[in-house]
Amino acid sequence: MASLGVNIDHIANVRQARRTVEPDPVTHALLAELGGADGITVHLREDRRHIQDRDVDLLRQTVRTRLNLEMAATAAMEAIARRVRPAMVTLVPERREEVTTEGGLDVASQVAPLAALVRRLEDEGIGVSLFVDPDPAQLDACCAIGARWVELHTGRYAEARWDEQPSELARLIEGAVTARQLGLRVNAGHGLTYANVEPVAAIEGMEELNIGHTIVARALAVGLKEAVREMKTLIQNPRRDPLFGSRLP
Ligand code: PXP
Repeated sequence: MASLGVNIDHIANVRQARRTVEPDPVTHALLAELGGADGITVHLREDRRHIQDRDVDLLRQTVRTRLNLEMAATAAMEAIARRVRPAMVTLVPERREEVTTEGGLDVASQVAPLAALVRRLEDEGIGVSLFVDPDPAQLDACCAIGARWVELHTGRYAEARWDEQPSELARLIEGAVTARQLGLRVNAGHGLTYANVEPVAAIEGMEELNIGHTIVARALAVGLKEAVREMKTLIQNPRRDPLFGSRLP
């Protein structure tokens, strides 16, 4: 059964809209945990558009599940990760002008530096996951650099038209099979919603789904604790067919 990592970046987005102190992502991480989150995920971006350094420091002290720090593979971010020592680092590509992470990390074109970075972080006791497209060449490269986890990018599946969704789901299933054959542990995320999450949660060997936007959006109606609880219910008992829509009331 897949576990749920709740991405709370969008709580910080609301705070940063006014550069004030509320809502505080640290408080909301606790509410997400009370709703059943198995982990808390934050993306500390170079431009600090949502999560701030202070959030990461406090979350490291207060999160009782697992803190997953998404970050670019840069020297500045490595220094922060080594100081904070989250349970997991997920390496993601980052471009300043993007609205959200676009596409997976191109591991195949930077094998040597990524291998060295993964080794340094693992030596500090930090698990490292690589956010990649479900592409065999990228998965081979992840294996080659000694990664233990990958996070499969579900964006294309999430954005696909209904008639293209089954083939995008098949790509994710094949990617998960390939990754596991290579000895990699498999997480997934990006763009997942209450309506499309179930077939991804049902993929054999799926360990963790990282989900943010849809949960924070739903929290406006039902509160974060309940929004997390509802997502957890779907993930724990998922249907495989993507075409029936959400089971939410
Ligand atoms: N996984 C990764 C690597 C991401 O960059 C993001 C977005 O920050 C997510 C998961 C969560 O995506 P969403 O907010 O669309 O659920």
